[in-house]
Amino acid sequence: MELDGVVFYGRLGHLALQMYGLDGELSRWRGARVLDCPGGPSSLAALLARAGVEVVACDPLYGLSIAELRQRSIADLELSIAKSINSPMLRRGFDLEQVRRHHLEGLEVFLADREAAPERYVAASLPELPFASASFDLVLSGHLLFSYAPLAAGGLMAGAGFDLDWHRRALAELRRVSCSEIRLYPGHTQSMPAEPHPYAEALLAELPTPWRGCFAARRYDQGFSGFTDGLQLWRS
Ligand SMILES: C[S@@+](CC[C@H](N)C(=O)[O-])C[C@H]1O[C@@H](n2cnc3c(N)ncnc32)[C@H](O)[C@@H]1O
Repeated sequence: MELDGVVFYGRLGHLALQMYGLDGELSRWRGARVLDCPGGPSSLAALLARAGVEVVACDPLYGLSIAELRQRSIADLELSIAKSINSPMLRRGFDLEQVRRHHLEGLEVFLADREAAPERYVAASLPELPFASASFDLVLSGHLLFSYAPLAAGGLMAGAGFDLDWHRRALAELRRVSCSEIRLYPGHTQSMPAEPHPYAEALLAELPTPWRGCFAARRYDQGFSGFTDGLQLWRS
């Protein structure tokens, strides 16, 4: 699949929990400060807030009105589905109608939460975030890094995409605002068969002290390719 820009797409909260490997450990993060960057139109932040997590989500589009967010999200959902239909990345039996239902369900939860708790949703873009250093115990980042690298580098972007230097700066910023742990998903190429993303391998190899990290596989079958792994980083 090829895209010309980053889509404003959001996973249902409980599917995002599985993706990040948080579904079995929510109680561990109750009262902790968690950043979801980028949050997109996902219901993850609303779900975490309801579970007692002090969560902030950020995304460049969070400055839009509720009507604009809904319109952009639905337009990008339809664009993604149209692009996916003939994609060789689509695994056999993958249910695009279910994707649409999940997305629309998550979108309504996101919009209601954004209206009820606007302070939870901050307009911001990597590689520069408006948060103090070490503000968050856990930083989550899904479907931005690696996925929007140029096509030739294993990403989805038909145009320039985010290059390795952008990824270095983005990850340095995520490390700056995290005092403990970062989970990045997915960490594989957008190809069939998917492989560990070369930028992810490069970033892991050059992690500065005291950071350590590894690829972490998840039992999560929502991806087009049915394959999901990511990166888990922590301060040692
Ligand atoms: C595919 S969505 C992923 C949303 C969510 N993490 C998920 O997995 O459902 C990618 C998001 O990245 C946001 N985005 C685009 N450029 C960005 C940047 N430079 N920094 C942070 N977020 C960005 C988009 O607005 C979009 O909401």
